Amino acid sequence: RERKRKEGVNLLELSAAFFRERLKMPEAGAAREYLARRGLSPEVQQAFGIGYAPDGWEALKRHLDERGIPEAVQVEYGLLVRREESGRTYDRFRDRVMFPIRDLKGRTIAFGGRVLGDARPKYLNSPETPVFHKGRELYGLFEARQAESRLERLVIVEGYMDVVALAQFGIRNAVATLGTSTSEEHLSRLFRLVGEVVFCFDGDRAGRQAAARALETVLPLMIDGRQARFLFLPEGEDPDTLVRREGPEAFQDRITCASPLSEFLFDQAAAGRDLARMEDRERYASQVLTALGRLPEGVLKSLMLSELSRRTGVDQSSFESLLARSAPGST
Ligand code: CTP
Ligand code: MN
Ligand code: MN
Ligand code: MN
Ligand code: MN
Repeated sequence: RERKRKEGVNLLELSAAFFRERLKMPEAGAAREYLARRGLSPEVQQAFGIGYAPDGWEALKRHLDERGIPEAVQVEYGLLVRREESGRTYDRFRDRVMFPIRDLKGRTIAFGGRVLGDARPKYLNSPETPVFHKGRELYGLFEARQAESRLERLVIVEGYMDVVALAQFGIRNAVATLGTSTSEEHLSRLFRLVGEVVFCFDGDRAGRQAAARALETVLPLMIDGRQARFLFLPEGEDPDTLVRREGPEAFQDRITCASPLSEFLFDQAAAGRDLARMEDRERYASQVLTALGRLPEGVLKSLMLSELSRRTGVDQSSFESLLARSAPGST
């Protein structure tokens, strides 16, 4: 098992170094231009180990073959794809800007690759491998810890480019889930490192849905004074576009002013309802109660219950008995 990990990490480091070297070559002119157009300085490219996968079917394969890495291992770690019919293999990543995904010790465990233009798929990620599990890893976590030794807060964004663009503007505490929704495992990992997370998804429908799911996921983890806040971006913006347009101070202000979990929870339940109407108030209360059912016992829960009671005019003890009755394990 440990041998396996070492073998994999070695191959992944060799690949990362290969991509970085290739970014310096004449063939990577378009990739360097692309990165410059997106405003990424050589320093930030270096801090994130950004590279380039050349446009060929066997460029990396030949490189790894020469270094004695068995083909089967290259396939197992997601660098080569094996064609079903012929059994032949070819480079998974071709003509893409490459982002190494690193673990907390800085070892490369996977890659994300972006096309230079508008071709699909825009991003290609390593598949699940012995060392890479999408639902667990966060892009940029190693780099955030490198940049700030005393991290207090982490900002969770959607994409690679959001993380590196924020870093380019000096906001170095962003991490990205890798095209998956935020999992409980992601969040427990983050809360082991910091007391506060700020969710900052794209200002579009998918981003708002992701925030709603993140709220569900984070509720059971709200213990020990942990903080979770939600930052909503203007329609059509993501952290990358917005920090470029507004600059880092304005973006930092948005982070500082992000809604606390309680506010987002109440706002979300109120959305589209007319709380002057009793039936709407009833559904509002049920929605909030369902969420509170996921929240651990504690002061935050009590405060939110009393706030719900204030907002609906229903006695707090009625809500408490409703909650107790619907609690898991009760009959
Ligand atoms: N993603 C992915 N596969 C895709 C599209 C997206 O894995 N085909 C993941 C990537 O991690 C990407 C994130 O979802 O960074 C967010 O997607 P999107 O908002 O489309 O990407 P951006 O980072 O905004 O891409 P860019 O600014 O480079 O166009
Ligand atoms: Mn797995
Ligand atoms: Mn989006
Ligand atoms: Mn985006
Ligand atoms: Mn973007």
